[in-house]
Amino acid sequence: MIVITTPTGNIGSQVLGTILDSAPSGGEKLRVIVRDPAKLSDSVRDRVDVVPGSHGDPDVVDRAFAGADAVFWLVPPNPSAPSLEIAYCGFTRAAAQAFTAHGVEHVVGVSALGRGTPVAGQAGLVTAALAVDDLIASTGVAYRALANPGFMDNVLRQVGSIRDDGVFTYTAAADRLAPMVATRDIAVTAAGLLLDRSWTGVGSVPVLGPEDLSPDDMARIMSEVLGTPVRYERQSLQDLGATLTGYGLGDAFVQGMVDMMRAKDEGLDDGGQRTPQTASPMTFRQWCAEVLAPAVLS
Ligand SMILES: NC(=O)c1ccc[n+]([C@@H]2O[C@H](COP(=O)([O-])OP(=O)(O)OC[C@H]3O[C@@H](n4cnc5c(N)ncnc54)[C@H](OP(=O)(O)O)[C@@H]3O)[C@@H](O)[C@H]2O)c1
Repeated sequence: MIVITTPTGNIGSQVLGTILDSAPSGGEKLRVIVRDPAKLSDSVRDRVDVVPGSHGDPDVVDRAFAGADAVFWLVPPNPSAPSLEIAYCGFTRAAAQAFTAHGVEHVVGVSALGRGTPVAGQAGLVTAALAVDDLIASTGVAYRALANPGFMDNVLRQVGSIRDDGVFTYTAAADRLAPMVATRDIAVTAAGLLLDRSWTGVGSVPVLGPEDLSPDDMARIMSEVLGTPVRYERQSLQDLGATLTGYGLGDAFVQGMVDMMRAKDEGLDDGGQRTPQTASPMTFRQWCAEVLAPAVLS
């Protein structure tokens, strides 16, 4: 049995959908942990075992991991947590104990690129995510950390300014090349690892997208796909912090974002080698056509 956390989230819902599609008439038993089961569609609810609650709760994971062979693990964003330690490792600690208690053999977790780079220890949210990988690895399960660069899907947060002002904002230099990945590709990679559990030990699986792009490249591709000009506006780290604070996000999360963006500028995402195995297929152009354009037009 495979247990899937965050089945209502961006990646988790696509992991669940991919696995359900791979075995339309049965296949492996699936269980999801979900805070509000009513958020699942009837067709999904009919085909999975549902454990209600948060996967940060010891009683919930204790119930959910009984009889589990494999777990998809994702730490939910917690912008109001008092520290990143509490938000990431604190959230995962009960599950880590339950992996051992229930003899879970395989875990696939959503993590980030950056391990081994000089800035990995000062990279805010990424440093916290890498500590989660270490925590899970310390339990003795076979573990694969999906080492992701920034998500293409982050651009969806800017649909309003892209549509209304033709502006897309980020903190990198306009010509700085970096990898980026579609959450669909992360989910397909996770589903593959969860279904074929021939792997052992601990390792990371970079999911790097097909090419490096700069913010100016992204603005050009968005303009071409949307048929309307979109230009890149660089935001300072200080302005980023002030904007996030203005949205009501907590100090620890805001500092974690600022530190992560600074580390990205200093090479956090530059260590991954793109190979046929690590280059996930979805291009930014395809993502804009299939995901961004419908969102901008809706
Ligand atoms: N964005 C990036 O560029 C990037 C890069 C690398 C790694 N990451 C990592 O990717 C992850 C985010 O993935 P995503 O985009 O799929 O997330 P998402 O779409 O924001 O989904 C969040 C999920 O977490 C659930 N959730 C929220 N708070 C919860 C709580 N207290 N207890 C239990 N469940 C809770 C939500 O369920 P409800 O429906 O109940 O709210 C939802 O299913 C984070 O771990 C982040 O560090 C992000």
